[in-house]
Amino acid sequence: MQPVGPPARSAALPHDPRNVIELRHVAKHYPDGTIGLEEATMNIRRGEFVFLVGSTGSGKSTIMKLLSKQLEPSHGTIMVAGRDLADITRKRVPYYRRNLGVVFQDFKLLPNRTVYDNVAYALSATGAGRKEIRAKVPDILRLTGLSTKLHQYPDQLSGGEQQRVSIARAFVNHPPLVLADEPTGNLDPQTSIGIMQLLYRINRAGTTVLVATHDHHMVDEMRRRVIEVDRGRIVRDEAAGMYAAGEQTTDEFGAMMRDVEVGRVRERLDHLQGASDDELLWGDRPEADR
Ligand SMILES: Nc1ncnc2c1ncn2[C@@H]1O[C@H](COP(=O)(O)OP(=O)(O)OP(=O)(O)O)[C@@H](O)[C@H]1O
Ligand SMILES: [Mg+2]
Repeated sequence: MQPVGPPARSAALPHDPRNVIELRHVAKHYPDGTIGLEEATMNIRRGEFVFLVGSTGSGKSTIMKLLSKQLEPSHGTIMVAGRDLADITRKRVPYYRRNLGVVFQDFKLLPNRTVYDNVAYALSATGAGRKEIRAKVPDILRLTGLSTKLHQYPDQLSGGEQQRVSIARAFVNHPPLVLADEPTGNLDPQTSIGIMQLLYRINRAGTTVLVATHDHHMVDEMRRRVIEVDRGRIVRDEAAGMYAAGEQTTDEFGAMMRDVEVGRVRERLDHLQGASDDELLWGDRPEADR
């Protein structure tokens, strides 16, 4: 095992402007010695739609959290849009995150704000004025199919609707990069198709989208790039891949799931009391802050 040390600085890392994500020899060793990621090197180009797959505990969320600076790498260099994340000071992390759209498995909506206000908040955090908010929020809510739900609170929505709100929130600033960690993990197959189609539509509008998922069917039907992690190592990177290497695709997108009995939507909303909006969204303080 490598010794745990401070993040290595980039030594004149050659940056390709076509890449929005660049990982070079990135490792994450958790304080208890668990290896979250080892020797991870990859590039993701602007405008790509990429699935991150692998069994539970393989390192998918570790990659997502490194990209959003919820975690710091033990070694290696992470560049996002040409910027070395090691150079972003703790104070600047909130500004960095404004250029990211993040979608979580458990939605992480603000429970005491309406659909409209959940999205408006994300926009106002970037310094948008009231006029801009009034113009943009209804547009994004229309795009995500939420026009009739503006004044509902998260606990009055289904799981799929809550995830649409979180995608609207992630996309309202038109960030260059959207990170979605198991966005359909709490949703039934039919609802999941709609959510994935929405992420795909966002991608078609030019945003790079990275989706960590366990959803074999979705990955096999969409045939986008697949990066597989196994015990912290990148073991596969295929341009139009399947969830598991060597499988065959059959039907059109979603067709194989149409007859699947719609399961119960599991709605998980954390009603954290007394937490700030940022804490609600990001959970813990960034690791660098502890
Ligand atoms: N805070 C932590 N402290 C110690 N070990 C951790 C921590 N977070 C994750 N790990 C470990 O790092 C490894 C990778 O975890 P990670 O959460 O990245 O996996 P994952 O691929 O997202 O899994 P899942 O599909 O279950 O979400 C696992 O062995 C996990 O137990
Ligand atoms: Mg995970």
